[in-house]
Amino acid sequence: MATIQLFDTPASAFAPAEEHFYGQRDAALDSFGRRINYLRISLTDRCNFRCVYCMPEHGAHFAPRDELLHDDELLRVVGAAAAVGFEKIRLTGGEPTIRRNLVELIRGIKQTSGIREISMTTNALKLAPIADALKEAGLSRVNISIDSLQPDRFRSMTRGGDLARVWAGIDAAERVGWTPLKLNAVVVRGLNDDEVVDLARLTVDRPWQLRFIEMMPLAGVGDLADASVVSSSEIMARLEQEFGPLEFIGWKGSDPARTYRLAGAQGELGFISSVTEPFCATCNRMRLTADGKLHLCLLRDDELDLREALRNGAADEDLEALIRQAVFLKPWGHGLPDGIKPTLRGMSELGG
Ligand code: 5AD
Ligand code: SF4
Repeated sequence: MATIQLFDTPASAFAPAEEHFYGQRDAALDSFGRRINYLRISLTDRCNFRCVYCMPEHGAHFAPRDELLHDDELLRVVGAAAAVGFEKIRLTGGEPTIRRNLVELIRGIKQTSGIREISMTTNALKLAPIADALKEAGLSRVNISIDSLQPDRFRSMTRGGDLARVWAGIDAAERVGWTPLKLNAVVVRGLNDDEVVDLARLTVDRPWQLRFIEMMPLAGVGDLADASVVSSSEIMARLEQEFGPLEFIGWKGSDPARTYRLAGAQGELGFISSVTEPFCATCNRMRLTADGKLHLCLLRDDELDLREALRNGAADEDLEALIRQAVFLKPWGHGLPDGIKPTLRGMSELGG
């Protein structure tokens, strides 16, 4: 019934430990023993920005509306995922705040038995006016993308973004009490790598986590070459030059960010080094695309189609079995060191 497209993962990667065979005991363990309990849901592949490392300026392809999961389909998937053992949901995009009925969707997810936490990654352009409603519906935290503190540069990196409105969104996130507030900056050589000191300085007197993300080579990065990737170690060296030694805080479980603190700072720095130091061994996540495919690893093309099953009348147990199967088929990790890059989807379809 469901289509499974496996592309670049060697069959040997699927050799299961027998006791973890899907459909049997502890279903949310993948075939490598990782506990998969975190689902990142892309609510739309559309966005009100066109960040240079994410989408082309013109001619981005968007799925037609009827290919996207409807609200009721999405809530069924969440229910089935929760039954399988998923506990954490993150809403992503494209830009999740442009999805219709966002408040009601959050309310529905919140009411799903087994779901403990709902967070969202947003560019915050439209966040301020809806923050109270999202909070009331059950949203527990947000991550906000901010790559530059200079309005003109912000506008050019996002191809049109208004930094003042993003700040209003950040203020609103603080006001409604979404803590800890995390800010994401993708560092691109020649575009904003000269701002890492200014970005890090935000944490001195604010209790935020500023996260520096290595640019990943997904289908949307356009002409930005591998040389545009600025490694975490390069950023750390620059910061230590300016601020002195960074204090190591930790590397918690499945959080991809290694965290540090500037001496005496209220907030933290996070380094997400997907390219130079992959954290696949502690991966706990899967992604659901807006068009209803389970995407098994961010940096691979492998997917399992749930929409087809939903529209062919799958029962809840069928959905649960498919999700277990996806968990079981989750590849060990990405293939960037072997030159294998995902080609089918851009970040705007996968939500980071
Ligand atoms: N590499 C790394 N991060 C990216 N994001 C978008 N495109 C890329 C990329 N090519 C980030 C955004 C946002 C999150 C959704 O994903 O900055 O923080
Ligand atoms: Fe939109 Fe986020 Fe992609 Fe920027 S990075 S274009 S805000 S989805």
